[in-house]
Order: sequence, then structure tokens, then C-alpha cells
Amino acid sequence: MKSLKVTILVENTVGVALGLLSEWGLSMLLDFGDERILFDTGEQGNLINNAQILGHDLRQIDRVILSHGHYDHTGGLLKFLQYRGRLPVYAHPDLFMRHYRRGLNREGEKYLGVPFLPEQLESAGADFHWYRKPVELRPGLWLSGEIPRETAFEQVDDRLVEIKGGQVVQDVMLDDFSLFYVTDLGLVVLLGCAHSGLVNIVEHAKRVTGEVRVRAILGGTHLGPASSDQQKQTIDYIRGLDLTCLAPNHCTGLGMMSKLAVDFPDSFTYATTGTTLEF
Ligand SMILES: [Fe+2]
Ligand SMILES: [Fe+2]
Repeated sequence: MKSLKVTILVENTVGVALGLLSEWGLSMLLDFGDERILFDTGEQGNLINNAQILGHDLRQIDRVILSHGHYDHTGGLLKFLQYRGRLPVYAHPDLFMRHYRRGLNREGEKYLGVPFLPEQLESAGADFHWYRKPVELRPGLWLSGEIPRETAFEQVDDRLVEIKGGQVVQDVMLDDFSLFYVTDLGLVVLLGCAHSGLVNIVEHAKRVTGEVRVRAILGGTHLGPASSDQQKQTIDYIRGLDLTCLAPNHCTGLGMMSKLAVDFPDSFTYATTGTTLEF
């Protein structure tokens, strides 16, 4: 299996002093040597500036995978397409669903969905491919497909809602995708926001790939806003995995990030903008 180099192009914070720009969002460059895949695009388009500073040519990206239809993972897509030109973009058919966050302090609901029309992105070069089921995108690399919700303790963030027929209802985030990469030393699990629950995702990864050893977990875990029961049970689960790399970021939040750093000192990496990890 080809080795995989993951570079965090955009994350909420910057960890290296190179003139990189952070924003609330996530974007990772996956470099397999013979192919480069962009996993999410952040919110503002800073991935382009950051890639240049880090020495990566985004015109050489071969395809884009979108983890889900929130603005902080898709907001950089238009600028990226204008820079890169036509290429395949993989996502769930609910990508453009009207994702909202519940109104706070009597404010109205806040739109969190993709900040572009599909036609705008298609005109700028997005060649969309829609998936609901797991698919092997290249040898060893799997797009998760929809994540079965199996654990009792993992709930989609109850602030996330959709508006259906004028009613505000819980958003179940069926479009939440992750990526799984099978290496000789076990699975590398790449998360967008893990809205379907980290444990549900990792268990699904084992079933889909047939590899039960989990080597690394990277990306947004959404543990910050989770209940304390979910946080605790997820930490117990991670303890049983024997990871060599735990690199949470983005919606993990500062409190949970600190706790994971203390609980898993040997495997924890703070995966900020500019971080590169090799598997
Ligand atoms: Fe996010
Ligand atoms: Fe999200």
C-alpha cells in the first residue's frame, strides 16, 4: 500500500510560524505520491494561501471529497475550483440540504449549510459524484458512505436542525462521511466533524475495510459539544484501540483537546494548520 502524507491546510488554529492563516473549518491534503486528494475545503479559502506557503500546488489536486454540507468544510470550495478548474467532487446527495443551527437567545435559526448553489459550483468546475454507500476510491482508501448509528450514547448535536415544511426538526446529518485508509499497521480514520459519532464511525470502518486494528484517528471529533456521558464513553473506547496517533482538531474544542492530550500522552498530536503526518 502506498504511504499517505496528510497535511492540515486549514484548521481553527495555526501551529507553526510560517504566515499561515487559520479559520473556523477544516481542510486536509492527502498525498499518496501518485495522487492528491483534497478532503474538505475550510470556510474562507485560506487553503490556497496556506498550500502555497507549505509548498503544495493545489492545481495538482486530482479530486475533492466533502465530509458533509456544513459551511466550514465547503466554504472554500468555490475559490478552490476557480483556482484549480474542473475536477471530480465526491459527496453525499444530501450535501445541499438546508442545515441550520437552532436559534440561540431567541435569534432565528442560523444557516450552516453550503454557502453556494450547486449550479454555481458546477459552473466553476465541480463534477459531482454522489454516494450513499461505502466505496473504495483507490487501493486501501474508502469513502465511508452513510454511518450506521449503533451506539446508545452517541447523539447528533441537538443544536443542529433542519427546517422541513416550516417545522424545525433535528438534523440527523446523513451526509456525514469519513475516510478510511488501510495500511500495513492498521487503519487510519480521517474525520470531518464526526457528527455521527466517533465510535460509530470507527466500528463502521472496521466492518467496511475488514481491518480491525486502528492505528490513527485524525480530524474533527465533535466531542466538545457532546454530553459528558458521550465524552467519557468515547475516551474509554479510544483507550481500547491502542492508537499510535490521535490527532483531533477543529470541533473537538479546547477542553476536550486538553483532556485527550493528558489521557493519551504517547499518541496525542495537536493537528493545527500546517501539521503534516505520515502513515
Ligand atoms: Fe465543522
Ligand atoms: Fe459540521
